[in-house]
Amino acid sequence: MATEIIATGKAVPARRVTNDDLARGEWIAATKIDTNDEWIRSHTGIGARHIADEDTAASDLALEAAKQALVMAVGWDGTGNGAASREAAIAETALTLDFIIIATVTPDFLGCPSTACIVQDKIGAKNAAAMDITAGCTGFVYGLETAAGLLSINKGRKRALVIGADVLTKVANWNDRGTCVLFGDGSGAVVVEKTGNPSEGPGKRGLLRTILGADGSGTEYLINRRGGTRNPWKTGEIVDIPPHLEMDGRAVYNFAVKAVTETISRLLAEEGASSGAALTFNDLAWIVPHQANARIVQAAGKRLGIPEEKFFLNIEEYANTSAASIPIALDEMNRGGKLHKGDLILTVGFGGGLTYGGNLIVW
Ligand code: UT7
Repeated sequence: MATEIIATGKAVPARRVTNDDLARGEWIAATKIDTNDEWIRSHTGIGARHIADEDTAASDLALEAAKQALVMAVGWDGTGNGAASREAAIAETALTLDFIIIATVTPDFLGCPSTACIVQDKIGAKNAAAMDITAGCTGFVYGLETAAGLLSINKGRKRALVIGADVLTKVANWNDRGTCVLFGDGSGAVVVEKTGNPSEGPGKRGLLRTILGADGSGTEYLINRRGGTRNPWKTGEIVDIPPHLEMDGRAVYNFAVKAVTETISRLLAEEGASSGAALTFNDLAWIVPHQANARIVQAAGKRLGIPEEKFFLNIEEYANTSAASIPIALDEMNRGGKLHKGDLILTVGFGGGLTYGGNLIVW
């Protein structure tokens, strides 16, 4: 029994803001940032980001990504395939879902209700349980493993929708040029299904292995201090700056390079040991890293002797979309014909918590 990704989808806001736009203060009248394209590109690889408007929340982007994945899952091609319309195809497929998991650090509401419940209602997935996962930018990696676990222990359950959705620009401190230029908004979604294919041995398919880890001693390195029960808003308090992410960039950078390096090495070594045939990066079609900073990926690649072309990077267009970055990349690769049946791919993420992890998948 394998857990396979059978469909993908993505959504990013229409508003595209380049590094130059930020420096000129042209994306929002009040905010001119003391930065420039050269600094952002050379330090991060970011060229642009997509920024949600005031009325767009995480669930709106998650909903659109989910719809795209559901349409792909049912194979609706605009001409029929059983469903009368795109909406009908979405509604039909939604009813086949057993779980909806959304990884996010920017939910519509603080704690309750979950963003997953909002999406569950909007797509009409009446048979699905729904919950959010908070694991920072590693959230999608956690979500995939959680879905696979839930499907494997529930005999009658077959399908899950796993989404990464974040609207980090709403929790960015636009007065801190060291962080605000890094973020973008978006969502990526996958439909995963329990299939009759083997998950090990010859012809193995789907999610083969996952590493999940955390280092809570690094909570201070990436933190949104206000609004939770540790530090709630007080009656009458005057707020001069909205809740926002604070980051120790250097500390996260060091953690990230180590996390990426070790996760890739461990996934290959552990899968090789269990299957009895050593695996190297040459066996991988792609490594799909969390898109936080191209320099992190380059540094990890250099340590492991892995050429840059092995890593799929789209950070130049989307910046850091947190839990959405890996599923957005998967959707772009999938729709762009970069993924072929049988390809071995490795995802690797890191982020607030601190957390890290990776999945090894036969596509
Ligand atoms: O999803 C996980 C989330 N976070 C991450 O992965 C972030 C990990 N960390 C990083 O990617 C890097 O640490 C950053 C990109 C955030 C920063 O790069 P850095 O090379 O560590 O720069 P720095 O913070 O040491 O700053 C170097 C200089 C400073 O100027 P001085 O003091 O040397 O004169 C900063 O003030 O660059 C300046 N600077 C900027 N200049 C222009 C910082 N931000 C900017 C900016 N534009 N946006």
